[in-house]
Amino acid sequence: MLTRPQQAVAAASHVDRRLAEAGVSPDAEFRERLDRHFPRLFEHFTDVYGDRPDCLEQLAALVVAIARAAGERPADLKELDRAREADPGWFLSNRMLGGVCYVDRYAQDLEGVRARIPYFRELGLTYLHLMPLFAAPEGDSDGGYAVSSYRDVNPALGDMDQLRLLAAELRAAGISLVVDFIFNHTSDEHAWAVGCVGGDPAYADFYRIYPDRTMPDLFEATTREVFPDDHRGSFVQLPDGRWIWSTFYHFQWDLNYANPAVFTAMAGEMLFLANVGVDVLRMDAVAFIWKQLGTDCENLPQAHTLIRAFNAVCRIAAPAVLFKSEAIVHPDRVVEYIAPEECQLSYNPLQMALVWEALATRDARLLSQALERRHAIPAGTAWVNYVRSHDDIGWTFADEDAAELGIDGFEHRRFLNAFYVNRFPGSFARGVPFQENPRTGDARVSGTTASLAGVEAGDPYGVQRVLLAHSIALSTGGVPLLYLGDEVGQLNDYGYLAVPEHAGDSRWVHRPPYPASRYAERTDPDTDAGAISLGLRRLVHVRRETEELAGGALVGFGTHDPHVLGYQRPGVSGTVLVLANVSEEERVVPAEAFAAMPAVAHDLITDTDVELWADVPLAPLQVRWLQL
Ligand code: GLC
Ligand code: GLC
Repeated sequence: MLTRPQQAVAAASHVDRRLAEAGVSPDAEFRERLDRHFPRLFEHFTDVYGDRPDCLEQLAALVVAIARAAGERPADLKELDRAREADPGWFLSNRMLGGVCYVDRYAQDLEGVRARIPYFRELGLTYLHLMPLFAAPEGDSDGGYAVSSYRDVNPALGDMDQLRLLAAELRAAGISLVVDFIFNHTSDEHAWAVGCVGGDPAYADFYRIYPDRTMPDLFEATTREVFPDDHRGSFVQLPDGRWIWSTFYHFQWDLNYANPAVFTAMAGEMLFLANVGVDVLRMDAVAFIWKQLGTDCENLPQAHTLIRAFNAVCRIAAPAVLFKSEAIVHPDRVVEYIAPEECQLSYNPLQMALVWEALATRDARLLSQALERRHAIPAGTAWVNYVRSHDDIGWTFADEDAAELGIDGFEHRRFLNAFYVNRFPGSFARGVPFQENPRTGDARVSGTTASLAGVEAGDPYGVQRVLLAHSIALSTGGVPLLYLGDEVGQLNDYGYLAVPEHAGDSRWVHRPPYPASRYAERTDPDTDAGAISLGLRRLVHVRRETEELAGGALVGFGTHDPHVLGYQRPGVSGTVLVLANVSEEERVVPAEAFAAMPAVAHDLITDTDVELWADVPLAPLQVRWLQL
């Protein structure tokens, strides 16, 4: 019996033979990277597929595909590969700032995005996530998350050459391009899907199709309903009577990763995107990629192994590329995707949700607890901190954490849902329910930042809440991510109700078209748009100048007041202490809280000194960034 490393060596020479037979002659640089990362790829691949007699052949086919993609990688991207291998922490800087938008909604098409590069620079963006821009079915395509071809840009937006050009121009402007890697499912119009359903042997087993309800019933005994408004359970019926796995919409079919050919095919699509010039792949719906009977089919160990295998593929052929995890699940599960060998970046859905929780309750304790307990992640990784995304807000805090503060998780979620959809008396929020499930009591919330924060309702503190929420995303480290248009306080767009393919999905309420009139007001402090934009600009500017706000190190700080959030960001030269009053009352942090600190600190936001030997006052919803 050979040991794992011996097996890897034997496999490597088998792979070498296949490379030679395929007529691929990799250059020295590829050879070196392959030698360095092959053991890892071998380990992950055989962990998942080792029981199959053709495992080694499948692995060899994968490496041939990787070598081909590496051979096609343009020279400028290879240059970038070298630079980022030499500086793997490049994305941990306090100058990193992300923006996200839909190409069509925000700028009409790729050319329109290009035309907005000067604005992105003005804003200080270094990272731009363009929502799915690939070929997709006409009508409803879940905002492009039903992909019909990863190698074609949706013709309404442009073409692949334009995307290549845009990637290069963004890079020249210091902005990394982020696109989605939607690898859990495809649209029902994808060639793989059509082939699989039609019986084409090349795509046999690419999806999970069952002849009758036997297996679906067994699986559904333990799976969750993600989009119950669309269909119940995890399967939809094909016209011929068979059942196919669809976690999300009925036209989005889950791929079958138990088939190694699916992994290899997807790795090919991934490297294609890498070679177009994409810097970061947003790994969509990571939790769902592996299914196993008797489980909830979320966050299974094989999901991690497969992402690590994709990561190894990237390290071999396109090492400049990073992965960002989209796991909107229990916080214990979210962190499991975060590692230099898995996803270097991850959305921080817990912090996002708890900022809203604190604004509704005027109590910062749950957020503070999360920052102390759940903020630390491995070296060489970073959170993507955001106020809201293109998706709904789900209350993904841990019930155990809430219980420690005497909060009942189920009741608290009910309260938060009611509060944010304006069913709670006196609420400042104007959100809309998403996927209310009467069978489970589950629901989530849609709405733009400004509408959820009170601006739409004309609440006197709406603007300050928008700024407070962003100030937290901008000061807890990692990559802050702005939903473009929110920086000028865009409001809910109820027009979605008149669009048949959007009316059933309330997330469209917070995906408005480019808010031109608000942008026009962005330098006028007497408007909401201007007050938000100017306030945010100030925060972004200070962040860029403040070394302490780089990286992700964070230490708790007791403010002696549940209405005031506190945390410290230790840097090389000093520490920044953040205080944020989440209530509409004036609060005071008592001098004793600052006992171990210097007598005077500098408030970076207002550019004034603050005496710490005395009590420190905070106006309603005020934030202070105190440099010690
Ligand atoms: C991700 C996307 C979401 C989409 C789902 C299915 O969660 O963020 O918008 O509906 O995947 O692709
Ligand atoms: C995706 C969906 C979101 C859902 C979540 C469940 O992120 O977009 O609506 O709450 O998955 O994990």
